[in-house]
Amino acid sequence: MFVALVHASIALPASSTAGAAVAASSLGARVRSDFKLLDQDIWEGKRLVYLDSAATSQKPASVVRAMTEHLERDNANVHRGAHSLATRSTASYESARDKVAAFVGAADRREIVFTRGATEAINLVANTWGVSELGAGDEVVLSVMEHHSNMVPWQQLAKSRGVILKYARLDALERLDLEHLRSLLGPRTRLVSIAHVSNTLGCVNPVKEIAALAHAVGAKLLVDACQSVPHMPIDVRELGCDFLVASGHKMCGPTGIGFLWGRLELLEAMPPWQGGGEMIDTVTLEGVTYALPPGRFEAGTPAITQAIGLGAACDYLRTIGMAEVQAYEHELAAHLHRGLSAIPGIRIYGPPVDVATDAAATHAHRAALCAFNIEGVHASDLATFLDQEGIAIRAGHHCTQPLHHQLGAAGSARASLYLYNTHDEIDALCVAIAETVDMLRMLEDV
Ligand SMILES: Cc1ncc(COP(=O)(O)O)c(C=O)c1O
Repeated sequence: MFVALVHASIALPASSTAGAAVAASSLGARVRSDFKLLDQDIWEGKRLVYLDSAATSQKPASVVRAMTEHLERDNANVHRGAHSLATRSTASYESARDKVAAFVGAADRREIVFTRGATEAINLVANTWGVSELGAGDEVVLSVMEHHSNMVPWQQLAKSRGVILKYARLDALERLDLEHLRSLLGPRTRLVSIAHVSNTLGCVNPVKEIAALAHAVGAKLLVDACQSVPHMPIDVRELGCDFLVASGHKMCGPTGIGFLWGRLELLEAMPPWQGGGEMIDTVTLEGVTYALPPGRFEAGTPAITQAIGLGAACDYLRTIGMAEVQAYEHELAAHLHRGLSAIPGIRIYGPPVDVATDAAATHAHRAALCAFNIEGVHASDLATFLDQEGIAIRAGHHCTQPLHHQLGAAGSARASLYLYNTHDEIDALCVAIAETVDMLRMLEDV
């Protein structure tokens, strides 16, 4: 489709020619063969460049194998059978809980509740802790950058219980305005619920500081860690939060599984949400007593195979080392930001990245994703044209409509990276964007 194009009006980042950044870390190249899906042409001669990992990550062979082996050898329902398959299945399911608990530094394995994903985990907190603890006039503090998953459940609670929602705004660099958040906290604040990493701005929010601020006014802190748990070492005790949620499918695991981590004393005090099998202690015709956490919150047959897949994903990432994943993605983040910044007319949302002067500090402020718009180019047109080159990016509002409204955009294009991406893929993206923009502008001129 682009054969007629003669040049791209873009200078590639220096590292793409010198190869310096490539030499600094080769994680992407090393793990590449673990991800079979990446080894394909999308169109004839057009190699897949997958840059949509913030939406969902690809899965390594070890995760696919763990799930297949479970289904082929051990499949049975959990917690209810005396036969050998049921015992093996239960052991694998509960071992997955251990792996997730260790992955996020939980003090106790009972603090991990398996859910369908982060969305369900936040709904669980809103419908249990929220319903039992919050009443009219109580305040929940969010930020304008929240994913709809961390906004809508609280809006529903506000409507049904008279809870008041307050939103921390962005600062001039399009990060969380911490001072504004601080000013929203008061005696009626019961919960702060905030993303660790914005899936649109790419900023990394100072969760530790926010935990201290929330606790100082007697409020709890829920961290939406969907975009941080897959990409950096996480220790819930070090973060100081009270609840943390994440989705398995963004961290090399399958869809249909995620988790809530909650402090044990909070989970123990929370009423159940859904009723049914597995979550009970005893049931009579007159009534019911409930199981202890985490069973209390896992009504019905759980997503057994998916939980086992998530456990295998934790094994995979732990073996590589989350510090290495984080360091490598830091390089990718800088390369992506620099490469995109060179495209004329581009507007990248979120804080700037300036690796030349402040590598350590920027690391704390920018993840390996960029949402952007280019003057005169519709994001979905761009994504469609890039697909013709085999490059997968996302276009739309990324489930952050209120944030896009604040940014003055209906939507944006987003490239998001993971451990399997390479510097070369970022270069391919930047060249393809520049070519596409040239072509669209040429078409406009005729
Ligand atoms: C920051 C953030 N929070 C929550 C979610 C919701 O995750 P899920 O759809 O897996 O429940 C996402 C998914 O894109 C996200 O990026």
